[in-house]
Order: sequence, then C-alpha cells, then structure tokens
Amino acid sequence: MRLTQKITKLFHPDGYRSAVAGVKRIAYPLSASEFMEKLDREGLERIREKYAVPGEKVAAPKYLDVAEWMPTNVKRVRDIRLFRAPPVQRVLDIGSGAGWFLFIVKCLGHEPLGLDIDEEPIYRETFALLGLPRVIHRIEAHQPLPILGAPFDLITAHMTCFNRRPDGSHWGPDEWMFFLDDLAKRLSKTGRLHLDLNPSPDGSHMAPDLREFFVKCGASVDRRRVLWRNGAR
Ligand SMILES: C[S@@+](CC[C@H](N)C(=O)[O-])C[C@H]1O[C@@H](n2cnc3c(N)ncnc32)[C@H](O)[C@@H]1O
Repeated sequence: MRLTQKITKLFHPDGYRSAVAGVKRIAYPLSASEFMEKLDREGLERIREKYAVPGEKVAAPKYLDVAEWMPTNVKRVRDIRLFRAPPVQRVLDIGSGAGWFLFIVKCLGHEPLGLDIDEEPIYRETFALLGLPRVIHRIEAHQPLPILGAPFDLITAHMTCFNRRPDGSHWGPDEWMFFLDDLAKRLSKTGRLHLDLNPSPDGSHMAPDLREFFVKCGASVDRRRVLWRNGAR
C-alpha cells in the first residue's frame, strides 16, 4: 500500500480505529504459543483425521486449522481487552463454533460458556476436547435466550450467523432491539457486549439504518464490530 493510501486510511474513522487497535495490541502482548502448548494435540489430531478437509476456507472443517484460528482468537481477546484473571469474568460466546476463543478465555482464568446450535459434529467434539461448557440453543428473532444463570461480564459473538432471516437477509433494527434488550438483562451492570458481524449478501456488514440504531443505543461501531456497555442507553 502506498504511503498516501496509508495516510488517507488513517484519517478515515475505521482506519483510525484499526490503528488504535494495533497500538492496543502492542500494549497487551499475548502469544498464541501459550495456548497452543495447553492443547491436547493428540486429541485434536484424532478430530482432524475424521473431519479435516485440506484447503477448506468456508465450511466448519476450516476451524480445524488451529495454526490459523488460535492467533485469530488471541487477537480477538486482545482487542476486547480481556486480561488475565483476577478478577474472574463470566463470558458468554454466542455462536461459539469450535471454541478457540473460549479456550483462551478459560486459560486466562475466566469462566467461559458457549451457546450454539448442535448441528456440527466438529464443534461438539472440539468443545469436549477443550473441556468447555456449552448451552445448545437456536437463536430466533424476537425470542428470548434460555436461562443462563448468573449475569455475564462479557458477551461476545464473532462472525455471526444467527442474525439471518429465512430469506438470507440480515436482521435490522427491529430484531436487534429485541435481542439487545434481552442481552442487557443477562449482563452485569458494567457488562460489555462485543459483536463482530458477518457480511450480508450485498457485502456490507451493517446497513446504514442498523449502524444508526447501534450508535443511538450508545454503542461504538466500526465497519463490522459493535461494542456496547450495559447502561449506555
Ligand atoms: C461462522 S460460525 C462462527 C464461529 C465462531 N464464532 C468463530 O468466529 O470462530 C457461526 C456460528 O454460529 C452458529 N449459529 C448459526 N446459527 C445459529 C443460531 N440460529 N443460533 C445460535 N447459533 C447459531 C453456528 O453453529 C456457528 O457456531
């Protein structure tokens, strides 16, 4: 990238935020190798033998490429500023997938809980391998989450799929308002919500009216991420 492009990018709000995130990452060093060492490599190999698809970049077997996904999730943990316990944080990850994010959360001394549908045997097996708890539940628009126990300090959702309508379009402000109201009841008074949205069929992560809705709720929003603190409304 040419210098002029880099400078233009820096002065764009998203470019500025990503530069700040870069500085924060340097200020909070966390290495994937620490968590790789704690993995049951033989157990992972047994799962890989059953399900790995070389070169897969879209479907669930892609998450078995731990050399790619562990660093990705370390970056997520750093960006969210989830530090080592104490204090112990209760963390709910929605659409928890293979569980790499929650594995790091657990290794840092926190209390992880996954929530997912139970359609993918890979996720079932990786959660068992990583010794992570998971609630099986299908999120549907305008339906509350099940009872999940004590309030959470942090709720996350990465590369979300639960927010798709039957026609493939993505939830708008109406569905998100119900969901946010419900999540607010599950968060502690100072609890945080981090969303990282998958792109819609048109390639955009957030329609303008949805972005406006999140901002009105008091969230900080970049291209695909939404950071919201309980009580911000
Ligand atoms: C693209 S994967 C992302 C996995 C993980 N969050 C990550 O970023 O590595 C989407 C996840 O959402 C889950 N999911 C899809 N529809 C869902 C729904 N209606 N309710 C709950 N989870 C859902 C999938 O099973 C999968 O775990």
